[in-house]
Amino acid sequence: MRKSIRRILSSLQLRLVLLLLRPVRMLVKSGARLATDEGSTDAGLAHRNDELGQLTGAFDQMTQALKDRQVERHAANHALRNSEMRYRGLFETAQDGILILNAETGQIDDVNPFLTDLLGYTREQLLGNKLWEIGPFKDTPAFKPAFRELQREAYVRYEDLPLETSAGKSINVEFVSNVYQVNGGKVIQCNIRNITEHKQAEATRKESSRKLQVLSRRLVEAQETERRHLARELHDELGQTLTVAQLNLQALLPSTGPGELPRLKESLQAVERVLEQVHDLALNLRPSMLDDLGLEPALVWLTRRQAELAGLKGEVQTDALEQRLDTVIETECFRIAQEALTNVARHARAKTVTVELRQEEGQLHLRVRDDGIGFNVAAIREKAVRGASLGLLSMEERAALAGGQLELKSLPGRGSEVHAWFPLLWQTPPSEFEAQ
Ligand SMILES: Nc1ncnc2c1ncn2[C@@H]1O[C@H](COP(=O)(O)OP(=O)(O)OP(=O)(O)O)[C@@H](O)[C@H]1O
Ligand SMILES: [Mg+2]
Repeated sequence: MRKSIRRILSSLQLRLVLLLLRPVRMLVKSGARLATDEGSTDAGLAHRNDELGQLTGAFDQMTQALKDRQVERHAANHALRNSEMRYRGLFETAQDGILILNAETGQIDDVNPFLTDLLGYTREQLLGNKLWEIGPFKDTPAFKPAFRELQREAYVRYEDLPLETSAGKSINVEFVSNVYQVNGGKVIQCNIRNITEHKQAEATRKESSRKLQVLSRRLVEAQETERRHLARELHDELGQTLTVAQLNLQALLPSTGPGELPRLKESLQAVERVLEQVHDLALNLRPSMLDDLGLEPALVWLTRRQAELAGLKGEVQTDALEQRLDTVIETECFRIAQEALTNVARHARAKTVTVELRQEEGQLHLRVRDDGIGFNVAAIREKAVRGASLGLLSMEERAALAGGQLELKSLPGRGSEVHAWFPLLWQTPPSEFEAQ
């Protein structure tokens, strides 16, 4: 009896042990599945209130968190693969050269097809070499120190770097390099843009514009010489002859009878009028005082004369200039003032015009100001560029020909100012046409 009771008890104990062990075994199995990343890792047990139930709950929470992380990791890997593919695509098809260097050693780790084509080297010839050891960059002494700088500063840029291709052709590139962190290490990416054609086009454009400037200057000089010549001819030839006629007619006055006197007087007046016109014409062509006395007295005379003709109050404010200026500056400054004063007389409806000539910080400044109706500078200039008028543009052109600049300031109803400035030490550059 006792024996059978003990057997029953031990079988009950065994069942109890088995009952207790079952969830533990299931947790162990789930753990194993988790380790091998297999299907469902849920322990499949009810979350009871006892310690085993709490353990199961904690286990399921942990496996769920792991699963979520895994999903996130998959998505991140997917995005990374896509981004790598996109980068590769850009790298392979970029229309700029790209070099990837090892930031520690300077060795070339990667190079894109555009650069191998540009330099005429194969990928294999470039990979594994240090940048300053290979052909195109070899004769560029700046590279080794630049690499050190790049390691320090993380950014290096050369606007215009001359290189030589494997075929010995000279090219110019813009070279920009940056340091990036990749997988905990550093790499250097160099972007290389071929600017050879752009540079050549720029050089051709500059040369054409320089030639055009030289030609314009020659044209203006020739025009001034012709004006000077015409002014002298008018004064010396026509002026002298008319003066002789005037003196002769005057000499006849006392002996002329009353019947002839009115016609003689009329002739005398006509000769005097023509003489005045010739005098004015000669002055307008080129006042001799500009050549004989210089810019300052010529401007004083011009302002008074123009103001008087237009019925305005004219003021001149000048610094006494210590020396005569380059003749081109004197001429252009005078002609600008002449056009500005003519514009005031023709368009401004002003009461006062002021001409100022000052030396400021190694520059000569000319300002012609009026208190008239003003104008919309941008709109009028736009019209002038389209061919409506010449005056404003020719003032700008004349300032540039003498190495200076010109600015127009005006507001409708608030008067106008023409401001031109020239370097005082400027000298007419020798013309290549003269040298030939
Ligand atoms: N001081 C000024 N006050 C008011 N308007 C002005 C003044 N100067 C220029 N303008 C305006 O600017 C326009 C262009 O001037 P610009 O000197 O180029 O031409 P223009 O005097 O009309 O003819 P031209 O080509 O014979 O000089 C003038 O027609 C006038 O409307
Ligand atoms: Mg004008």
